[in-house]
Amino acid sequence: MASTAERGTWGSRAGFILAAAGSAVGLGNIWGFPTQVGQGGGAVFVLIYLLCVLLICLPIMVAELVIGRHAQLAPVGAFDAISPNTRWWLVGVLGVLAGAGILSFYSVIAGWSVAYIWFAGTGALTGDAETVEAFFATFTANGPLSIALTLVILGTTATVLVGGVQSGIERVTKLMMPALIVLLLVLAIRAVTLPGAAEGLAYYLRPDFSRLFDPTVINAALGQAFFSLSLGMGAMLTYGSYLGKQESIVTAACWVVALDTAMALLAGFIIFPSGFSIEGFDPSASGPGLIFAVLPRLFATLPGGQLFGAAFFILLTIAALTSTISLLEVPVAHFIDVHKWPRPKAVLLVTTVVFLIAIPSALANGAVGFFSTLPGFGTDFLSLMVVIWNNFALPIGGLLTAVFVGWVWRVDRAIEEVELHGSPFPGRALWSVLIRWVCPAAIAAIIVSAIVSM
Ligand code: TRP
Repeated sequence: MASTAERGTWGSRAGFILAAAGSAVGLGNIWGFPTQVGQGGGAVFVLIYLLCVLLICLPIMVAELVIGRHAQLAPVGAFDAISPNTRWWLVGVLGVLAGAGILSFYSVIAGWSVAYIWFAGTGALTGDAETVEAFFATFTANGPLSIALTLVILGTTATVLVGGVQSGIERVTKLMMPALIVLLLVLAIRAVTLPGAAEGLAYYLRPDFSRLFDPTVINAALGQAFFSLSLGMGAMLTYGSYLGKQESIVTAACWVVALDTAMALLAGFIIFPSGFSIEGFDPSASGPGLIFAVLPRLFATLPGGQLFGAAFFILLTIAALTSTISLLEVPVAHFIDVHKWPRPKAVLLVTTVVFLIAIPSALANGAVGFFSTLPGFGTDFLSLMVVIWNNFALPIGGLLTAVFVGWVWRVDRAIEEVELHGSPFPGRALWSVLIRWVCPAAIAAIIVSAIVSM
C-alpha cells in the first residue's frame, strides 16, 4: 500500500471540495436533472429528489468519504482492507462496472455538447422552435459524427488520466465552476423574465401530488440524485482517500451536496421558463434532446446570443470532462491497484472497452432504428442505459455501502474516523440511524416497488 505522501493529498480543503464538486457537477445537473423533471411530471419530481438528496444521499456521501479516508485506497482495496476475507470487495467491482457503463452514455451526450459549441457560435441554431428541434434530430441521426464526437471526449479524458489527476482538476475546476455559476445565473434571470415563464415556473415549483407515490417517479428521482452526486460507485470513496486527516468530512460532504443541488435547481429555472415560452412545448416529450431544443431559443433572446451560446456549451463541456475523469479513474485505478497494470495500459484498455459500449448509445437518437426504439423496451438504448446504471446500479451500490458502514465496519468506528480532525461529528446519532436503517430500507423499498410496477 502506498503511503499518504506518495498518493498525494489535496492542496487544501477548498481544493478537495472543488475537485469533488467538479466530479459531481456536470451533465447530471444541467442535462439530466431537467430531462428527468420533464419526464417525472415537474415539481413533484423536484420534491422527491430533494428528499432523496437529504435523507439518503447526504448520509451515504459521508459514508463513502469516511471509508475512503480510513482505508486510503481505491474501492476494491478499501472494502477488502476494512473487511478482509469477505466478499465485500465485490461492491467495489460493481462500481468499476458502473463507472464504465455510465461513462459510455455520458461521453455521447458530452460529445453533443462539443458540437453545439460550434453550432451555437456559428449561428446554426437560429430559427423557430421546430427548426431548432429538427436540427437536433438531423444532427444526432448522423451516426459517424456522433461516434467521432464520443471519441473526442473519451480521448481527452484518457489523455488527462495518463498524466495523473489532482492538480489539473483542481486548477480547471477553480476557474470553471464560478464561471458556470455566473453564466447560469444570467440565463436564469433572462429565462424567468420571458413571456410565458410563469407557466414554466408553476410546472417546476407547484407539485401535482397525485404522482407523489408513483414508484417509477420515485425510482427515477433516487437514481438521478445518486448520478448527480457521483455516489454509489466509489467515485467519492476514491476522492475521500485523498482527503487529509485534519479535514472535516461532514463539512466537505455538505458543501459538495449543497453546490451540486444548487446547480441542478438553477438549471431547472433556466429550462422550464424558457421551454414554456415556446408554443406547444411538452417537457415530457423531448427526452434526451430537451436542453438542446430549448436552450438555443433562449440564447436567441439575448443580445450577443451566439457568444452566450458558445460560452455555455464550452463550460458545459468542461463540466462534463471533470466528471468523465472521475468516472474513468475508478476502473483505471482498479486495474492499476489490483492487477498491477501500468497506468497507460489501464487507461488504454478501459477506454477502448468503454468506447465499444458507447457505440450503440451514439446510434440511439435516430442513426440506427433498432437502437433508437429498442423492440420490447419502448425506449432508446441511451435512455435504457440511464435506467440500468442510474436507477438500479448506483442505488444498489449505495445500499451496500450503507449496510457495510452501518453493520459490518460499524458506525462507532466510522464516527471515530470522522472525528479524527478533533471536533465532534455534528448529528452523529441522526447519521447512525439514517445509515443503518433509513438508507438501506428506503433504497430497498424503492427498488423493489419499481421492479414490481414495471
Ligand atoms: N455526477 C456527474 C454529473 O452529474 C456524473 C458522474 C461523475 C458520476 N462521476 C460519477 C455519476 C460517479 C455517478 C458516479 O454529471
